[in-house]
Amino acid sequence: MPQPNVLIIDDEPLMRISIADALKDEGCQVKVAATGLEGVDLIKKEPFEIVISDLRLPGMDGLQILQTCKEVSPKTGVIVITAHGSVETAVGAIKMGAYDYITKPFSMDELLMIVNRLLKVLELEDENRSLREELEGRFSFKGLLGKNDKMREVLEKIKLVAPTDSTVLILGESGTGKELVANAIHHNSPRRDGAFIKVSCAALPESLLETELFGHERGAFTGALRQRKGRFELAHQGTLFLDEIGEISPLVQVKLLRVLQERQFERVGGDQTIEVDVRLICATQRDLKKEVQAGRFREDLFYRLSVVPVQLPPLRERKEDVLVLAEHFLGGFGLRAGKRVKAFSQRAQGLLIRYSFPGNVRELENTVERAVTLSHENKEIEPWDLCGFPSCPYLGGPPQPTCGFCSEGVPMAEKKTASADRLDVAREQFERQYIVKALERTKDNKTEAAKLLGLSRKALWEKCKRYGITKETNGAEE
Ligand SMILES: Nc1ncnc2c1ncn2[C@@H]1O[C@H](COP(=O)(O)OP(=O)(O)OP(=O)(O)O)[C@@H](O)[C@H]1O
Ligand SMILES: [Mg+2]
Repeated sequence: MPQPNVLIIDDEPLMRISIADALKDEGCQVKVAATGLEGVDLIKKEPFEIVISDLRLPGMDGLQILQTCKEVSPKTGVIVITAHGSVETAVGAIKMGAYDYITKPFSMDELLMIVNRLLKVLELEDENRSLREELEGRFSFKGLLGKNDKMREVLEKIKLVAPTDSTVLILGESGTGKELVANAIHHNSPRRDGAFIKVSCAALPESLLETELFGHERGAFTGALRQRKGRFELAHQGTLFLDEIGEISPLVQVKLLRVLQERQFERVGGDQTIEVDVRLICATQRDLKKEVQAGRFREDLFYRLSVVPVQLPPLRERKEDVLVLAEHFLGGFGLRAGKRVKAFSQRAQGLLIRYSFPGNVRELENTVERAVTLSHENKEIEPWDLCGFPSCPYLGGPPQPTCGFCSEGVPMAEKKTASADRLDVAREQFERQYIVKALERTKDNKTEAAKLLGLSRKALWEKCKRYGITKETNGAEE
């Protein structure tokens, strides 16, 4: 982003000057305001990429500034500065949509790190917006989205190969979209009105796979009470998609090779030669070339299958696609759940982009589905909606060992374990235990427990939700 526009709101002159100098050195254009009112005036007048505001200010405080900023200029990223010991308010600010907070005293390097991270997110958001407009055109094909260079090559290749009868071999890790590609090819081929039949080769033992593919005659084996057509016959004039082709046994490999060479075969236990007109698409997570070298896969069959190879890159190698896909899924799930879910907050976007997604697009899709389920209507999706842990490190909890985002090191989690924030974590843990105890003492009666704790029932309910205190785990009401 060339010369991002940054506004600093702080009543301490020294703080204003030092932040302004540090940001100017980084190439930012900086404006400063000494009061909340002055700051809000500026926000209303000109667009800022980033607003850095102290939380405690005379007159209008940081939370009010944040609220105005979200209303007037929702794209602006807000970083709040808090005094040591007022982390509760900072967490509140984050819930209201601030990107991050920094606790006084802090070093300029710490602040610059947050600013740079936010700028990266804003840049990606910007790219994403322009992309959305182009999406339906250049970067998508039958529900297959991809903006990354390799994905665009894949989409071009699919468009070219779809109208032909060539055999296609789709390669890629689990969840990268192999089946979706096979579908797109079939539905854009002249065979689209014919059948699209899928066989998962890994799901069946050798003999069953053989009869599944080629069918059998009556009496071919014990239990074969009548003749049965195989998938090749059922896919006549259509497409047969053989998933996990790397798993087939040498015997099935030989039979498959023959069909590919001669377009004919016999049913198991039969001698009538059957001719079929089938287009074959295969997919595998395995490196088939290596399988050939290791002698587990026939070389002649490999060449027959990979007339047109399509290699799908893993999601971690196409970060540009993460937000595009996430928004696409958000729209779909929101619609299905009948929920008006707004968008991903800046922090949630940052988290999505940083995460490696070992389960690829499928994992991203599931993550978004969970987030839609857990998020509130008309609210942005936040990191804790993505991971599904109510005591997520972003809300002051400890890193969750079973959470992928946490195990890859959520920046907040790192921050929370840094010495400045340890007291805060300890306090929250203590508060959680204290609430659990109160609920135990009142035999899960929330009204009684709230009285005991000196809280309103609503405040107690919110705390239970935040700390993940559920009836099953801790004896509290849901
Ligand atoms: N480029 C993409 N655009 C939109 N959705 C995608 C894309 N790639 C994958 N998906 C979605 O991700 C999910 C997983 O894709 P798919 O089942 O095709 O993966 P796969 O490679 O066949 O996985 P596996 O090897 O585990 O069978 C599907 O719901 C699919 O619709
Ligand atoms: Mg699949």
